Amino acid sequence: MPRLNSATDLERFRQEILARRDPNKPCVTICSGTGCHALGSERVAQAFVGEIERNGLREKVDIRRTGCHGFCERGTIAVIFPEEICYLGVKPENVPDVVSTTLIENKVVDHLLYVDGDGNKIVHESEIPFYKYQSRIVFGNNKLIDPSSIDDYIALGGYSALAKALLEMTPERVLEEVKRANLRGRGGGGFPAGIKWETTRDAPGEVKYVIVNADEGDPGAYMDRSLLEGNPHSVLEGLIIGAYAIGSHQGFVYVRQEYPLAVENLSIALEQAREHGLLGTDILGSGFDFDVKVHRGAGAFVSGESSALMAAIEGKVGEPRPKYIRTAISGIREKPSNLNNVETWANVPLIINKGADWYRGIGTEGSKGTKIFSLVGKVNNTGLVEVPMGMTLREIVYKIGGGIPKGKRLKAVQTGGPSGGVIPESLLDLPVDFDELSKVGSMMGSGGMIVMDEDTCIVDVARYFVDFLAYESCGKCIPCREGLYQMLKILNRICQGEGQEGDIELLATLGEVMDDCSLCALGQTASNPVLSSIKYFKDEYETHILEKRCPAGVCKPLISYHIDPDKCKACMICLRDCPVGAISGGKGEIHVIDQERCTKCGTCLDVCPERFGAVIKLPSKEAVAPMEPGVKAR
Ligand SMILES: Cc1cc2nc3c(=O)[nH]c(=O)nc-3n(C[C@H](O)[C@H](O)[C@H](O)COP(=O)(O)O)c2cc1C
Ligand code: FES
Repeated sequence: MPRLNSATDLERFRQEILARRDPNKPCVTICSGTGCHALGSERVAQAFVGEIERNGLREKVDIRRTGCHGFCERGTIAVIFPEEICYLGVKPENVPDVVSTTLIENKVVDHLLYVDGDGNKIVHESEIPFYKYQSRIVFGNNKLIDPSSIDDYIALGGYSALAKALLEMTPERVLEEVKRANLRGRGGGGFPAGIKWETTRDAPGEVKYVIVNADEGDPGAYMDRSLLEGNPHSVLEGLIIGAYAIGSHQGFVYVRQEYPLAVENLSIALEQAREHGLLGTDILGSGFDFDVKVHRGAGAFVSGESSALMAAIEGKVGEPRPKYIRTAISGIREKPSNLNNVETWANVPLIINKGADWYRGIGTEGSKGTKIFSLVGKVNNTGLVEVPMGMTLREIVYKIGGGIPKGKRLKAVQTGGPSGGVIPESLLDLPVDFDELSKVGSMMGSGGMIVMDEDTCIVDVARYFVDFLAYESCGKCIPCREGLYQMLKILNRICQGEGQEGDIELLATLGEVMDDCSLCALGQTASNPVLSSIKYFKDEYETHILEKRCPAGVCKPLISYHIDPDKCKACMICLRDCPVGAISGGKGEIHVIDQERCTKCGTCLDVCPERFGAVIKLPSKEAVAPMEPGVKAR
């Protein structure tokens, strides 16, 4: 591998790579991100290798395993270039058909295409609504490159921003450009990256550290993982540029142990960057030295907090400390340490290459650029979506997400993970950016976006997040440790039908104390899911507490299943399938559910044939008079 000693070397190397590649040569790309990998993408890739070989096409067709495309629920995804024909849900048994039909006969395999709501089949990936309305400036190269190939990254212009920064710009100019772009941190708080860089740069001391936060502890969030495992060089390039601006010679990537593919691809990327002279001493002949160590985190949510993360890197327990002095001034080994999120770093090469003015042209007044969200929950198209700041929630849920399954009503969207809040349907036209989300009591967080339909119980959702945080609280400070525990106790009893008058007020008071007095942002923001849900859905709390009903029919102690005697055909299906034998009634006799034995698992409702529709779920405990057993069915 050549060592690149100048911008000219880098450009020459890029031209050599491009000269070896024919843009018109068919290339089968197979998504090998974690989602598709779990669905068997490696077997699909192997099937392509074998089938292409069998058909004598080895010299005529390229195969590339890429990073995550974001539409993981439809994996394995295979896209054939240069036409960009996109096949979804590909299995190894589909491969012979794809090779003979598409690669040999130049036709599409209809049944593997995306079908939209009107039944139209869409051939090209970029025309699928899920992708069409996105702006994938950060995440877009994931689907084009093999993350284990530095050549793929360089072929697309990779490391040219680094060359520009190191060889054409002073550290001060780099810093100024990032400040002018108003790049705000994508890991939670949205703090301006340039200002934090400047604080670390100006802090006393020669030794400074820069760190990538790839802890990604929010439940359901996987943007950072997909970016790091799919395009590790983009994060690395941003980190080296940041180190240059700050005056740091040692970097760390803190990545959770549960992300093995990210660790593997990152380690390969680091090795390749070193071999090419893009890391180590005298990077690109600029005289600037910098290297990176990977620190594998043990997977505790609280260790994603800056002071906790730095303690973990030092080999101590990953718990937060009071931040009388910020980590930007006194972090790892009490040296100035600048921490940014994976996505924040991946934005940096774009800003340097295209300029702050270009970057400022995307987004809203206070939030520039794009944001990657993990769009999940009750929405037709789930996955990773990158949108310009300011796109409305409605556009994200309906245009990109394709709306709510089974024509149900949207109830709320939860953003910001456990520190965020619920946003009701009435605020769906809210432009999504850091400030607008905060104004309505939620936050951007790292990009979790959970869509909830009418069947979601808001109290149960708040309970879920508090349960998560109570488990993850490090326990060091009392407001967070005890506050969360007490909040959980109250929410549990509300969901069990034992809520008391005054519980809502008590939750609000606890939340205020936790906000004011907790040691770190875990406790300081932990009440957000509870307080925002009380703000917008107080009636639902009251129904649980005062009427002992769960309107959405979720909280098990507050619901009951019954069999409508007029509809029951005594078919025995529910009776046979009930896992606890709670249903009585023989052949020809109307079936009856024993409310004492019923565990509310819902199996009877699921298995009752649609044409009978005899099982009903009621949002209250006992709303129907019990039926005598032994009555003959009609
Ligand atoms: C409990 C807790 C967990 C956090 N977890 C993460 C995380 O997983 N990833 C992340 O980037 N930031 C996380 N943060 C935010 C970091 O403390 C820090 O603000 C962020 O990494 C800074 O990067 P940014 O300015 O680029 O967003 C967490 C904060 C708290 C309080
Ligand atoms: S892993 Fe294949 S689309 Fe996400």
